[in-house]
Amino acid sequence: MDLTIRIPRPDDWHVHLRDGAMLEAVVGYTANRFRYAMIMPNLSHPVATTELAEHYRQRILNAAGDQSAGFHPLMTLYCSSNLEQDDLLKGHETGIVKAVKYYPAGATTNSSQGGENILDFIELFETMADHGIPLLVHAESTNTEIDLFDREAAFLETELHPLCEQVPTLQVTVEHVSTSAGVDFVLEHSRVAASVTPHHLSRNKSDLLTPEFDPDLFCKPIINSEPDRQAIVDVVTSGNPSFFLGTDSAPHPTSEKYGEQAKAGIFNAAYGLEVVAEIFAKENKIENFSAFASTNGAAFYGYEPSEDELVLTRKQVEVELASTLSTSDGDQVVLFGIDEASHWTVSLP
Ligand code: NCD
Ligand code: ZN
Repeated sequence: MDLTIRIPRPDDWHVHLRDGAMLEAVVGYTANRFRYAMIMPNLSHPVATTELAEHYRQRILNAAGDQSAGFHPLMTLYCSSNLEQDDLLKGHETGIVKAVKYYPAGATTNSSQGGENILDFIELFETMADHGIPLLVHAESTNTEIDLFDREAAFLETELHPLCEQVPTLQVTVEHVSTSAGVDFVLEHSRVAASVTPHHLSRNKSDLLTPEFDPDLFCKPIINSEPDRQAIVDVVTSGNPSFFLGTDSAPHPTSEKYGEQAKAGIFNAAYGLEVVAEIFAKENKIENFSAFASTNGAAFYGYEPSEDELVLTRKQVEVELASTLSTSDGDQVVLFGIDEASHWTVSLP
């Protein structure tokens, strides 16, 4: 199948750019094609104040250098007992802080300072609702008695649903939705939307676990069953405005992916857009790709779509692509999605 599509320059509503040499190595992949990028605050020292967010934003723009034209990092603050309400409000008013990110403590990479229960922060969330500050949620239970593959559903039922009932005007994003339960939750709550990753759209737990566990597909929330994947694909390719692209691009050095304990996170900033385009093309829904990648998220967060255009071309013939990147520290990172991307070229004319 050969085709060419033009979409407004897309946004990435969930991305980890890290810091230092890793930031230098990865930022260009995001800055080269995306307009807005919602920057996750889970650095090893969490981004928990407006001042830290502003400094981090500057480091991102410096690292992007020439590639930063038309690229705008949107900063988030890490929700913990250390978050100061006044500082958040000041950061939001001055336009530096766009949202707050909640992590259940221990659910994922650099989440140890997260919360025990989301309802513990209800007063903060009421204030955020009053000021129109969105809450971005890593919706995954950390209760080890619950099956790993049921933890998104459990969190939604026991924590996020009560929160949405108690603060109905709060704008909430279920980040990296991974199950049909998550899709249903979004459809049933009017102020709730979801970001969706290339990997949860294109892989299932059989890919993760057979013929053996693949650390390169290990992320949180865990990639779930084929019916879950299909439910996400169906709602996303329908063009439903409550679902938008958040790559959750999360680079880790191979030394930490292939060691004793694989770190959770998949680096997909390089080829994630191609992986998603391939899904829409295969489902015969390419006409809805632009809603998912370029306009739904912008509308949810109150932005106009970009006036710049991105062109994606698919060809039957495959081109050869890099499968890893190297940092100046000598680390390697595997690039997710090379098979799909080898059919596509992407340009910002
Ligand atoms: C992310 C990371 O590495 O920072 N990892 C992941 O598996 N997705 C954190 C997160 O978003 O859960
Ligand atoms: Zn993430």
